[in-house]
Amino acid sequence: MGRFDGTVAWVTGGASGIGLATAQRFAEEGARVAISDMNKEASEEAVAAITGGGGEAVSIPCDVRELSQCVDTVRAIDERWGRLDSVFANAGILGVGLVEFVEEDDFLRVLDVNLNGVFRTAKAAMPLLKRSGGGAIVMTSSVEGLVGNMMLAAYSTSKTALVGLCRSLAHEGGPFGVRATCIHPGYIETPMTEPVAAMNPDFKNEWIAKTPLGRPGKPSDVAAVVAFLCSPDAAYVTGTGVVVDGGTLAIR
Ligand SMILES: NC(=O)c1ccc[n+]([C@@H]2O[C@H](COP(=O)([O-])OP(=O)(O)OC[C@H]3O[C@@H](n4cnc5c(N)ncnc54)[C@H](O)[C@@H]3O)[C@@H](O)[C@H]2O)c1
Repeated sequence: MGRFDGTVAWVTGGASGIGLATAQRFAEEGARVAISDMNKEASEEAVAAITGGGGEAVSIPCDVRELSQCVDTVRAIDERWGRLDSVFANAGILGVGLVEFVEEDDFLRVLDVNLNGVFRTAKAAMPLLKRSGGGAIVMTSSVEGLVGNMMLAAYSTSKTALVGLCRSLAHEGGPFGVRATCIHPGYIETPMTEPVAAMNPDFKNEWIAKTPLGRPGKPSDVAAVVAFLCSPDAAYVTGTGVVVDGGTLAIR
């Protein structure tokens, strides 16, 4: 028996990194999983890997910058499985630059995916979550959503704002059994962080030196926490976040 038997999960940004590991984790624990990503080919590969392992998954391409695509995705999930229980609003991009020099368009582009994209995902999902008798929305914030960092103003702003969205949604969803939480990952080795590490060979070792657990995170480390937050084990957890950073933030 899996914790997610009989349930349906929707993962945005589910074709890579943290989203992919979480989609796999949901499927391993019995959920039927809809993987949404801009990268259609990688989504289909993820679905093939899950179905090849005996799980159930479908790729429903969705760009979270478009509300209509989020709404269409939920409609497709409803038509296919008739319910929705867990939503991992995870699609995100990195944006780097000093406030003084970053282009306004680049700043807004990061907010549009990382913040507005999560809003659109949640807005589209709420009616079906409510109709399913309740459920969970987990938003991918970051440790940068709890502290500021050089060169990461747009990213940090987007991830900090998710804390407000999460708290408000917890308030709105509570009466319907819909819980809203955030995760705050530290440095996780994924295709997003690969170029950062490649640009600065010291990046990884410097991060390890300020991390009590002495290693970067793996996507599966985050997936396990998302699964917990969506599971009945977290039935009394809403409006708050979990830091998944090996202790980095504790000693900054
Ligand atoms: N890797 C880290 O160290 C780290 C730390 C904290 C938070 N995060 C956050 O975790 C989330 C996942 O990041 P990751 O590290 O797995 O990166 P990743 O680049 O491996 O995966 C992100 C996925 O999101 C998809 N995506 C991007 N824009 C999209 C859009 N508009 N619509 C739909 N899909 C879109 C990409 O195609 C990609 O598959 C992001 O929100 C990121 O900000 C990552």
